[in-house]
Amino acid sequence: MDDVEAVVLVGGKGTRLRPLTLSAPKPMLPTAGVPFLAHLLSRIRAAGVRRVVLGTSYLASTFEEHFGDGESLGLELTYVVEEAPLGTGGGIANVAQHLTSENVMVFNGDVLCGTDLGAVVNTHRHTDADVTLHLVRVQDPRAYGCVPTDDDGRVLAFLEKTEDPPTDQINAGCYVFKRSILEEIPRGRVVSVERETFPGLLERGARVSGHVDNAYWRDMGTPGDLVHGSADLVRGVAPSAALPGPVGESIVLEGADVAKDAFVFGGTAVGRDVVVGEGAKVEGSMLFDGAVIAAGAIVESSVVGAGARIEAGAHVRDAVIGDRAVVGAHCEIKGGMRIWPDVQLPPHGIRFSADV
Ligand code: GTP
Repeated sequence: MDDVEAVVLVGGKGTRLRPLTLSAPKPMLPTAGVPFLAHLLSRIRAAGVRRVVLGTSYLASTFEEHFGDGESLGLELTYVVEEAPLGTGGGIANVAQHLTSENVMVFNGDVLCGTDLGAVVNTHRHTDADVTLHLVRVQDPRAYGCVPTDDDGRVLAFLEKTEDPPTDQINAGCYVFKRSILEEIPRGRVVSVERETFPGLLERGARVSGHVDNAYWRDMGTPGDLVHGSADLVRGVAPSAALPGPVGESIVLEGADVAKDAFVFGGTAVGRDVVVGEGAKVEGSMLFDGAVIAAGAIVESSVVGAGARIEAGAHVRDAVIGDRAVVGAHCEIKGGMRIWPDVQLPPHGIRFSADV
């Protein structure tokens, strides 16, 4: 697919992942040991695409600081900044002048997916589509954009988050556009492809195709999805060529110090210079650089931010602990709680809901 360019939208503020996204944009959060975007870029490269344009906005400079010109990934990366976020459609329109290929793949920068990207492009070509959407079948489509198709694979409608979806096919956040169609998206204002561009194309009778499959798929937009997606990458359930180590129960980066009798498993990612003390148990979690899990602490399905400390005997489950925050000894933190950066919780507290 040397003749196809890619656009990755990475300009969103990632509000659902706060406080993690206060210091890094969502696609740059360490996921299975590397920025999430590295996994997506590795799949794009593996599919044979070479030129990738990143549509940035929120904390824009962090992308180029990390990935540079893309050479180390075998890619040519171009960065195009939106001064104010223009939405998914506005973001695509904003990079249009940097594209030259006849067909362009467009990706939401926060989707972890195992689909065969070449097959999506083949569907686009075989059906001579103006736009082709990757659609994935999910068990519960209610929380997503539901996209019914006819027997010829023609998209019939876009139904945003409906209680009574007519199909289990949802918009997977990966599209192939004819460049001529992409160039028609209005520039310089906020546009949503899902709510404006795609419905508009259907209305005027454009050929919009759906490429449906059952590939691994996860939108990494919420803490729960981020944690489970990271664990799936570590365990090799979700494919990536960018893992910084072999797949297994855990990935442990350089400089980390994990006590011999600590139990680190379930797809846990252990960042640089992390310390896991004696008898601690860490399951299916993300420990960012410099985090400390003291002796006997238990951490399950949680994100522990950079430099944060979980003191001895504390129990953290389904939680987000902000950078440098401290969870005091024997505290219990459960039920989707988020602890803001630098907050210090005294020992023996029990918290189940409200954020701190
Ligand atoms: P939330 O605030 O938690 O909804 O996250 P988000 O801002 O990332 O929004 P959403 O998950 O809907 O975005 C899907 C993808 O599109 C992500 O990869 C975003 O980075 C990207 N995106 C969203 N809005 C914009 C935008 O205005 N401009 C650009 N370039 N990308 C965007």
